[in-house]
Amino acid sequence: MPAATTSGAIISFREAAKVFPARGRGAEVRAVDGVTLDIRAGEIFGVIGYSGAGKSTLVRLVNALETTTSGTVVVDGTDLTGLSEARLRPVRAGIGMIFQQFNLLSSRTVTGNVAYPLEVAGWSKTRRRERVRELLDFVGLADKADVYPSKLSGGQKQRVGIARALATNPKILLADEATSALDPETTHDVLGLLQRVNRELGITVVVITHEMDVVRSVCHRVAVMEHGKVVELGDAYQVFSDPRQDVTRRFVATALKDRPSAEVLARLRTRHTGRIVTVGVDDVTGSSAHVTHVLREHGVDGTIVFGGITEVAERPYGSLTLELVADHGAGDDPRVEAAVAGLRAVTDVVDHGTARDPLEAVPAPASRSTEPVEQAKSDLPTPRRRPGGGPLGSPTGLVEGNDL
Ligand SMILES: Nc1ncnc2c1ncn2[C@@H]1O[C@H](COP(=O)(O)OP(=O)(O)O)[C@@H](O)[C@H]1O
Ligand SMILES: [Mg+2]
Repeated sequence: MPAATTSGAIISFREAAKVFPARGRGAEVRAVDGVTLDIRAGEIFGVIGYSGAGKSTLVRLVNALETTTSGTVVVDGTDLTGLSEARLRPVRAGIGMIFQQFNLLSSRTVTGNVAYPLEVAGWSKTRRRERVRELLDFVGLADKADVYPSKLSGGQKQRVGIARALATNPKILLADEATSALDPETTHDVLGLLQRVNRELGITVVVITHEMDVVRSVCHRVAVMEHGKVVELGDAYQVFSDPRQDVTRRFVATALKDRPSAEVLARLRTRHTGRIVTVGVDDVTGSSAHVTHVLREHGVDGTIVFGGITEVAERPYGSLTLELVADHGAGDDPRVEAAVAGLRAVTDVVDHGTARDPLEAVPAPASRSTEPVEQAKSDLPTPRRRPGGGPLGSPTGLVEGNDL
């Protein structure tokens, strides 16, 4: 069978489409619309999109819960197109899946749930017992072996779901909104477990989500879906640090409320008379060390008045809004002009002007200005100089209002 796989790809879509026929007087639905995509063996791959984008349908094509209307899906070297149920069975056995609603059997204990796929696969009782113990150890639920699902928390239920999905040693784990029913802390734990599944067991993990934080924290690469199409694809850091599509920008904005909205800017101008600029911070173009260096070079002081830096794919990303003043001078001092030009050479800069002479910056996409968190200038702690040139701030959260 000619498998159109790029080397290293464990799942390959080629112009894959799934069209659901019209219901009643409605139109047909192109749930997946011409997707060409390679998911590489050993990676954590994210598929992000809003509800109805086609994510679940895409992932259901992988374990052949749906079949393509046109195009092909190749999983681990097997073209699924037109395969009989009997031929699909071994492909499905190599794929584990976990769900938002856990889908546990309420009449079975934790052990019974995890053992279920082993029973279906015909494992002996002894081997099953051994395997279940191993799996429960791995997911940290050894002490819950005889408990029924109704007695478990959401996070524990999802751990059982993961143990069950891993029971028969799949090469691929599909996680469809697996953390969407969980609170943030439990989400963090479950994502940590998915990372272990990937790192320690070498399993390819496909994470389907509408939550930017999920992709941000665990995915190596990401596809952004909209209307059944992949509209953006690549290294997670690349995609989110330089989003090209509005939909991607909206996701970035949900994770990072780092840019001052018009209202915030107005308030900042009442408190700060200097030049206000927003500078991008990432580890490619504009580290905070670059920014500090430029300001020092021009004899300009920068005070952080707003901002946020978070991590995408374990690398820093965000922006800082600074008030720039040359000593005793105003924000329109020539040294400040020169510093702004210098900053433009090292990173993205949005120049907001001064309170006396405000610049209406090119309006940021509306998505960029949600729920800002403001940093007050008053009562700042003693400025601390950071050693070396590491990125500012803690991995998540907003930076303190320290002077640069
Ligand atoms: N079995 C089905 N029959 C008809 N339409 C469907 C079916 N499954 C999904 N759809 C439609 O396909 C589109 C994509 O759905 P889905 O893949 O579930 O998106 P997502 O998981 O991104 O929310 C939606 O418009 C949905 O209503
Ligand atoms: Mg879905």
